[in-house]
Amino acid sequence: MTDLSHFHNRLAKNARHLRKWARRSNIHAYRAYDCDVPEFPVIIDCFDAEGGTWLQFQEVDTGWQQSEDEHREWIDHLIEVAAEIFELPVDRIAVKHRGRQRVGGDKTAQHEATGLDEDDLVVHEGGHRFIVNLYGYLDTGLFLDHRVTRGMVGERARGKRFLNLFSYTGSFTVHAARAGAISSESVDLSNTYSQWAERNLRLNSIDLVRHRIVRADVFTWLRDAVSAYEAGDRDGVDLIVLDPPTFSNSKAMQGILDVQRDHPWLIRQCLALLAPGGTLFFSTNLRSFELDLLVQEKARFEEISAKTVPDDFRDGRIHRCWLITQPPR
Ligand SMILES: C[S@@+](CC[C@H](N)C(=O)[O-])C[C@H]1O[C@@H](n2cnc3c(N)ncnc32)[C@H](O)[C@@H]1O
Repeated sequence: MTDLSHFHNRLAKNARHLRKWARRSNIHAYRAYDCDVPEFPVIIDCFDAEGGTWLQFQEVDTGWQQSEDEHREWIDHLIEVAAEIFELPVDRIAVKHRGRQRVGGDKTAQHEATGLDEDDLVVHEGGHRFIVNLYGYLDTGLFLDHRVTRGMVGERARGKRFLNLFSYTGSFTVHAARAGAISSESVDLSNTYSQWAERNLRLNSIDLVRHRIVRADVFTWLRDAVSAYEAGDRDGVDLIVLDPPTFSNSKAMQGILDVQRDHPWLIRQCLALLAPGGTLFFSTNLRSFELDLLVQEKARFEEISAKTVPDDFRDGRIHRCWLITQPPR
């Protein structure tokens, strides 16, 4: 087995540094270890939630050949090291296994009174509260790589009509609404995530009439919204977040989504829906992504990835992000 002390030393050093950094920056969920030692390719996120600290381990597939037993033993050792460094019992460490979506037990019984499932945690960000779940889903409910972007959206949201496309659990909407957006629409195809978004909005006492959760295919919704805007049947919007998945082939939408192929159309539709002087944040996690040249002629594009990728991510290409502004007419 590779020498565990390298992992131990690096994680201990990260923990010391990042804990201080997180406290100083008022950050409660951060990436504690990001494949820092190549022989130990895992990602560890730390959640200082209401009621205690939790870690999530993610295995990173490097094509390593290990038997199931060897692998299990290897991960168990890493978990023991992390438990010791963070002074946590091992049952506070959730493991997301490679190639398997569901982890942990089947523990999703709903607690009616709180709106929280028994595995749900509540973490704070920017003074707002977010439900995260380290067990039952593919992702936790809060993408940590967009922490800075959410803050930037909040800074621009006051008095604005906000649109969140591919809104997932509505975390951008929470920031925008709490920062004073006058209205918002959060569009996502998934029932589960739309309900999660609603729970996040409720948890932050956000008015669900002014801030609407819309369960729809973004392609259909955008086409209809742009037609309605052009016909004078709806208002434009002032601030948009467009953060599509890299690829999606949900049964509920027509065809497939491929961000490389579809981003010019999506961006053009967003620009058509923006009121004069409006702003669009566009982001993608696709590493090989190339921004279409023709679409760049339609507005002012500024790549802001160097600012939006947070300091706790060693992977500077975790996402790319552009600030796109519509000149005032
Ligand atoms: C990567 S997440 C978006 C992350 C989100 N912007 C955030 O930062 O919290 C992808 C989301 O896109 C949604 N989705 C995928 N295809 C869609 C479609 N055609 N229309 C609407 N939502 C879709 C999924 O349900 C999922 O919630």
